[in-house]
Amino acid sequence: MLETAGDDFRWRGQPFRIVAGAMHYFRIHPEQWADRIDKARLLGLNTIDVYVPWNAHQPQPGQFHLDGILDLPRYLTLIAEAGLKVLFRPGPYICAEWDGGGLPAWLTSDPSVRLRTSDPAYLSAVDAWFDQLIPVIEPFLAHNGGPIIAVQVENEYGAFGDDQQYLQHIVDGYRRRGITELLFTCDQADDEMLKRGGLDGILRTGTFGGKVDTALAALRRVQPTGPLMCAEFWNGWFDHWGGPHHTRDAQNAADDLATLLAAGGSVSLYMFHGGTNFGFTSGANLKYAYEPTITSYDYDAPLAENGDITLKYRLMRSAIARFAPVPDEPLPSPAATVGHPGIVLDTAVSLLDVGDPAVSSGTPLTMEALGQASGFVVYEAVIPEAGPTVLTLTSYADRAQILLDGVPAGLLERSRHEHSLPVVVPRPGAALTLVVENAGRVNYGPGMFDPKGLLGPVLADGVELTGWTQTAVPLDDVSGLPFAPPATRLPIGPTLRHGEFTLDTVADSYLSLPGWERGAAWINGFPLGRFAARGPQRTLYVPAPVLKAGVNEIVVLELQAAASATVDLLPAPDLGVVAD
Ligand code: GLA
Repeated sequence: MLETAGDDFRWRGQPFRIVAGAMHYFRIHPEQWADRIDKARLLGLNTIDVYVPWNAHQPQPGQFHLDGILDLPRYLTLIAEAGLKVLFRPGPYICAEWDGGGLPAWLTSDPSVRLRTSDPAYLSAVDAWFDQLIPVIEPFLAHNGGPIIAVQVENEYGAFGDDQQYLQHIVDGYRRRGITELLFTCDQADDEMLKRGGLDGILRTGTFGGKVDTALAALRRVQPTGPLMCAEFWNGWFDHWGGPHHTRDAQNAADDLATLLAAGGSVSLYMFHGGTNFGFTSGANLKYAYEPTITSYDYDAPLAENGDITLKYRLMRSAIARFAPVPDEPLPSPAATVGHPGIVLDTAVSLLDVGDPAVSSGTPLTMEALGQASGFVVYEAVIPEAGPTVLTLTSYADRAQILLDGVPAGLLERSRHEHSLPVVVPRPGAALTLVVENAGRVNYGPGMFDPKGLLGPVLADGVELTGWTQTAVPLDDVSGLPFAPPATRLPIGPTLRHGEFTLDTVADSYLSLPGWERGAAWINGFPLGRFAARGPQRTLYVPAPVLKAGVNEIVVLELQAAASATVDLLPAPDLGVVAD
């Protein structure tokens, strides 16, 4: 068992330093887990840091998905087989640039629930979840011979609240369900946050990427004895759509890592390997504006999005080798890649024709009220009067495309604080269609109550429109959509396009969509994620196991209008223009 003794960790009675790295199973194709875990071992890591995304496992109350990319027992088994240990971080809130910080949509859309507090409604949802999760990971706890040596309580709670009863409830819940392992909290290296986010008697750790001495001093002030640990050493950073691509100098990151290790610190690299926000899983920030996170979670981490070893990996490996054992084995070569330019997307179907059965109501229903967590909702109503009209969406999330009698008439974006649009209504009784996109739930800070869809009245020249139908379009399964060759021209407005391409050999690839504006892509049914022409990323990672030798199928959703009928598979990624 892992224990603390004075300023050290002890593992089975011997002094032990945690040299960990974060790697999220839910961001890596499951057939690549073993490869990535082995590369963690080769870096000299002795531990993998594992968040659990509650919302992915439990999209509706009571459900529990543990298959495919969510097969947590298999991931923990592979880590154990590689001889590595686990820092287990089940939240329940995880932040992580993940949709809703891992809190399920059915909670983040309920105005009566006070998230991340000891509100009984929130705690009963947390308890029901832990009742399902913890029995499944019990065999993987160290006291049962498994790899989990320590378990985190909440996540950077001091940056959010001060409800110590809530933290104590998480601790008691872990203990009551049989977790006897070492518990810890993590907080940004700020005295107040470290105090608020921790509990006396539970190990406090810091999250920081630089100014190592200052950060460790803050930790020491708040916790005069005990192991010094950086639970998230930020060796890179994430990107927002429309912003620059962030990188961190490799030598600078390795030097700061060495400073931390020289001070006797334990560490978890955030991220060791970032992976990808496949499908509609990325989160968003909300401070001065709503800023959704991009699909790539490369994070400029030591192991790149495609699992390749980077310069940062090599420099960090040398830094670690000065303080801890590093396997004396050759490092693997870069992954093979394959390209296929000019894939033609020659059949199509309108997004308006692929939804669930329509639901009628007087006033608009939210996405979550329709039982839907992600994707789109198509809303329809009638505008009584013709002529120039100001259309106002009093509250919506996150992006609304407006069609009048089926013809695109404009766009409103939450990220630009837009609510009103002047339109010309073509005739009395014209059909108003609003295609409302969920672009990712806020995952950090006070804005986490974040329902999606239409959230308030829609007004035409100040008069509320009533009599709505709404159609959920989750796009959680694009197989079997009724694609057809367009008779004369493509459907107008948001459209799904389909094509086929043949490969002789299978390897990693990168989907490039020049001339395409905004949407999402799937290959052989696997959700590669969102794309947007504004970048910064210009390609989407296509893991080799998604591809097949022979005929492959591609589906691309274009929300605006593509100026091209083709997309390209490229042999190299382009994550965009780097920030200064
Ligand atoms: C904090 C959180 C992580 C992640 C990072 C930023 O440290 O704990 O989950 O959001 O910030 O990448």
